[in-house]
Amino acid sequence: MSIIQNTETTAKLRCISCGDQPDSAGRDFRCTACGDLLEFFFPEGALSALADPSTLKSLWLDRRTSRHALDQSGVWRFRELLPDISAEHAITLREGNTPLYEMPRCAHSAGVDRLLAKHQGMNPTASFKDTGMTFAASSAHQDGFRWVACASTGNTSASMAAYAARGNMHSLVLIPDGKISWGKLSQSLDYGALTCQLHTDFDGCVRILNELVRQKPVYLLNSVNPYRIEGQKTAAIELMEQLAWEPPDHIIVPGGNMGNSSAIGKALLEMYDLKLISRLPKLSIIQANGANPFYRSVREFGGKKIEAMTADTLATAIRIGNPASWKKALRVLQATGGEVEEVSEIEIAIAKAEIGADGIGCEPASAVTLAGLKKLCKGGFVKSSESVVLILTGHLLKDPDFTIKFHRGDLFAGTKEENDSAQAKYLQRAPIVLDADLKAVIAELEAAEKESV
Ligand code: F0G
Repeated sequence: MSIIQNTETTAKLRCISCGDQPDSAGRDFRCTACGDLLEFFFPEGALSALADPSTLKSLWLDRRTSRHALDQSGVWRFRELLPDISAEHAITLREGNTPLYEMPRCAHSAGVDRLLAKHQGMNPTASFKDTGMTFAASSAHQDGFRWVACASTGNTSASMAAYAARGNMHSLVLIPDGKISWGKLSQSLDYGALTCQLHTDFDGCVRILNELVRQKPVYLLNSVNPYRIEGQKTAAIELMEQLAWEPPDHIIVPGGNMGNSSAIGKALLEMYDLKLISRLPKLSIIQANGANPFYRSVREFGGKKIEAMTADTLATAIRIGNPASWKKALRVLQATGGEVEEVSEIEIAIAKAEIGADGIGCEPASAVTLAGLKKLCKGGFVKSSESVVLILTGHLLKDPDFTIKFHRGDLFAGTKEENDSAQAKYLQRAPIVLDADLKAVIAELEAAEKESV
């Protein structure tokens, strides 16, 4: 499927720590020599031998008008920068192709002149996971697996279940009992996954899954799978295309298991090597302060080690205490000169409502990006004249419980944030229950009109 047939240009696998280069990956996607993660890389000179930047750019743009399913996918459209997977095994829901929105109110509240958001929640299963899942699920199909599996905080599982169903594979989901949103759980049920709610947290689900793949012929679809990272790279490529290949000064992403930040950073570095972009945006990573092992690793230990923690945050998608891809994320953070920040539960809730008030909306984990941007602006890392893109990772409707509780004013009831929750009052729009009476509705309308001037 490459536009250049030379096999030397094909991406190869390598261990991120010891550099070992296996021909293929084992079922746990870990290096057999040292146990660390694997990544794809292009051998020296392979990227520049591929094609000149302007040829690639026009090829990718032309594919937007194609009727071919793989060209219509916002992932497979960029296949020259992905490892080879045969087209007959490709499973696509036309993922990617997500919008880039102006965020004027959020820009104002963060203190920047212009703010954009790339909404990865506009993918087929409503989160950024689809871009990696189309690619990794296709790899499972190519390798002939009957079963695929993942541990998840809800979005990976929803996405995996959908792609497995489309590819006629069975899927096994391990999720922490009671700690994922109903929206996400309902997706994996409807897409036909065998869904196990385990009495543990996400990190506990990962431990069980790692054991399971050693004993049973199931294909691991967590983001330690390097095919996931390759697919997720395309969000950054598509973003640059949307910006006419003029990179922003900053890109801001949430950090959970750290696969997404690794993928976006990897894409930026490869695009820079390939001269598709002429400078690197700074990639900054934001965590919730109740689930901040990466923030602490960078701030307290200079990135030399990470201490696993018991994570807790209402942004359940990033309720992760032992992120698998932290070393990959650290590398791209350092290579792009980005920053790491942590934000509180109240800051996340306020930022989420502000993103909603711009007519866009997102799930709580995505809102850490705006909350983090505010801090990065206050600290002077982001200047008001600089261009910033937030990556919104999940759709507003993924977690309606959080949103409804926020607007009713009881999101923080009984928590240690309860006393601070008045800060968010000005953004709350609780539903008003009235008699079916025109006068009562008009009275509300007039009161609201008075308040708005
Ligand atoms: N935002 C959302 C909406 C997520 O679902 C996740 C991760 C992240 C951000 C963090 O991305 O892990 O690549 O750093 N969700 C995973 C899941 C863990 O199982 O759905 P990350």
